[in-house]
Amino acid sequence: MSDMNGRVALITGASSGIGRATAAAFAEKGASVVVAARRQDELDSLVAEIEAGGGQATAIRTDVAVAEDVKRMVARAIEAFGRLDYAVNNAGIEGRWAGITELDEDEWDRVLDINLKGTFLCMKYEATAMLAGGHGKAIVNIGSVNSFLGFPTGSAYVTSKHGLIGLTASVSAELASQGIRVNLVCPGFIDTPMHHRARATIGDEIYDKGVLPQVHLRRTGRPEEIAQVVVFLCSDEASYVTGTTLTPDGGFTLTI
Ligand SMILES: NC(=O)c1ccc[n+]([C@@H]2O[C@H](COP(=O)([O-])OP(=O)(O)OC[C@H]3O[C@@H](n4cnc5c(N)ncnc54)[C@H](O)[C@@H]3O)[C@@H](O)[C@H]2O)c1
Repeated sequence: MSDMNGRVALITGASSGIGRATAAAFAEKGASVVVAARRQDELDSLVAEIEAGGGQATAIRTDVAVAEDVKRMVARAIEAFGRLDYAVNNAGIEGRWAGITELDEDEWDRVLDINLKGTFLCMKYEATAMLAGGHGKAIVNIGSVNSFLGFPTGSAYVTSKHGLIGLTASVSAELASQGIRVNLVCPGFIDTPMHHRARATIGDEIYDKGVLPQVHLRRTGRPEEIAQVVVFLCSDEASYVTGTTLTPDGGFTLTI
């Protein structure tokens, strides 16, 4: 893939899991990275790691559900590196797994606020900066196999991830003529803290004997494997790819 030297990537939810691996992958390609999430200490350690490897990075504490935070996050990218080429809207929560009669209104609101409204807010301010600066190339949102599939007790999470398909498709249609591509990556089961929390809920035995046999590759994915897909979608090699979904799930979605 071509070099991303001199280009700038912003990644939300970068303090852990897929977001952290994605920030490292952009830095490895030579991009300067802006890492955003809620935990400053984790972000600071990521910045130190990237800088130790010869890369450039800056951190900004952000709650993606809060418009003022998101505005400040994008402003920081421009202030630190003068431009914005790529944005990865990855921050997300799973919420509490609960059946529809048990799910509280505030739990529903929190999941939708972060996963769906948060992605809207990020794209709004990212696209504004990209269009003003003239450097915008690609936005990648992070969905899930649950952008296509429901499961019992997952209504808030599943709804938020389904919503990202419509949001991504609409914004892709708006920004294509201005040279900005917008896509949705829909991972399967990936080895991150979120995955471990979900796995603890269902139990290792059900995961190993009930879930993994439905994955063609018969294993959990690594965050780095999602990061590579994201970097590809942002790269110039993906120049004809916009408004679509890519599903790195080891074959799960087609199996069930
Ligand atoms: N791990 C999986 O199996 C899997 C599968 C499909 C989709 N995903 C999606 O991938 C994305 C990353 O998940 P992960 O598995 O790396 O989980 P994770 O819990 O390890 O990381 C989530 C990140 O999002 C950040 N975050 C949460 N709420 C935030 C907020 N309000 N503002 C800013 N940052 C916030 C957290 O601080 C953390 O950095 C999520 O959108 C998740 O839904 C994960």
